[in-house]
Amino acid sequence: MIQAPRLDGRFRLSEIQARELAKDFGTPLYVIDETAFRSRIRRYRDALAASYPRTELSFAAKANSTLAVLAIAHQEGCVLDVASEGELRAALAAGAPGSTCRLHGNFKRSDELDFALAQGIGEIVVDSLDEIEMLAARAFGATRLVLRLAPAVNPVTHEKISTGQADTKFGLGISSGAAEAAVRRCVELGLPLSGYHCHVGSQLLDPEAQLLGGETIARFAVQMAKLHGVTPLSLNVGGGLGVRYVDEEPMEVEEYCRLVAAGVSRALEGSGLAPTLAHEPGRALVAESGVTLYTVGPIKEVDLGRGAQRVYVSVDGGMSDNPRPALYDAAYTVLPLAAGDGPTRKVTVCGRHCEADTMFRDVELPVDLKPGDLLQVLCTGAYASSMASNYNRFPRPATVLIRPDGKPEIVQERETWDQVLAREPIPEDLRT
Ligand code: LLP
Repeated sequence: MIQAPRLDGRFRLSEIQARELAKDFGTPLYVIDETAFRSRIRRYRDALAASYPRTELSFAAKANSTLAVLAIAHQEGCVLDVASEGELRAALAAGAPGSTCRLHGNFKRSDELDFALAQGIGEIVVDSLDEIEMLAARAFGATRLVLRLAPAVNPVTHEKISTGQADTKFGLGISSGAAEAAVRRCVELGLPLSGYHCHVGSQLLDPEAQLLGGETIARFAVQMAKLHGVTPLSLNVGGGLGVRYVDEEPMEVEEYCRLVAAGVSRALEGSGLAPTLAHEPGRALVAESGVTLYTVGPIKEVDLGRGAQRVYVSVDGGMSDNPRPALYDAAYTVLPLAAGDGPTRKVTVCGRHCEADTMFRDVELPVDLKPGDLLQVLCTGAYASSMASNYNRFPRPATVLIRPDGKPEIVQERETWDQVLAREPIPEDLRT
């Protein structure tokens, strides 16, 4: 028997809604619930504000850079953290002025920096000594610089989304002296250095590394104020708070904010410094507000010998609309439309790409599931549409936003065949 997962913050579609959306917009379909997204942002913002005297919440655009999603985050007062010129252009197109954006990246190209500065970008997070030299000759206007530090903490998460350890391409190491050298160089060049940043990893369920990271950059700020007279206006502890994909128990955001703030306050005690404490989560704000709707295709019962059997249930999407299972062995909650009391069995849900494309393992689904039925996958609001590809020339799915009045509105069209093939002229002599 399938039981609806116990009540939690994750958005899910009702059976009627799912049927209507599939009929009107087709599948695979990303669905984002505006009310759920807004209330997540507000809850995080309130928790952060309650934790510390001056705070700032950003939304990490990489988690979901659909323009309507960025517009909502901007409307809710979030700074937009962008990791590339493309994400900055998306933020601008969504109506966020450059001054409300922060540019990240371990390799910002010179033209990217020029573009960001021309847009009056609020902050640039400087990642290396070479980048300081690139910035040296530029005019900043009101743009501030923040140094990304590598606090050498070891987050408990998948290695591909772990960034706070000593062996990382991101940021400036503290123990190696690179971070202090960067501060000295900024002072020497008269650059508008105004704070420090760290992001130790993503989908963190154990916040220990994050807490250490915050404390470490705050301690560094105190030292740099003493040694080099740099007054930090902001300390940014990045994003990283985990969410529930299946049965994870992420820390409540209130508790998390309180602990981060306590560590930072401890480190700043007696220093007379009063920087703004900034967080820039992506996943924790948008993941649980989204689902992906798929249509079931062929179902196969494969004989594994000795009486064992595996049931493959194929869906009309796969690694091109959600590469997270392939990249990080990510698990998800998969629900048939109705949670009923009929018999169920464990199946492997696979996509329709030309490789194993195993999406979801050991999923309990009704025995009578058949081609044409719908499945919804919870918690796909983050790092699904933003990581989608055209592998096997699949058109990328549409995104529908459920507005506060319950009406669906398309905010990202399904790619057309023309768009899928649009970028490729064929040399004249290859045309037959
Ligand atoms: N700030 C910085 C500098 C970051 O690098 C990231 C994520 C964030 C904020 C937001 O982190 P969040 O709160 O979303 O954990 N594609 C991977 C996640 C990569 C995260 C990269 N950086 C995934 O699907 O799990």
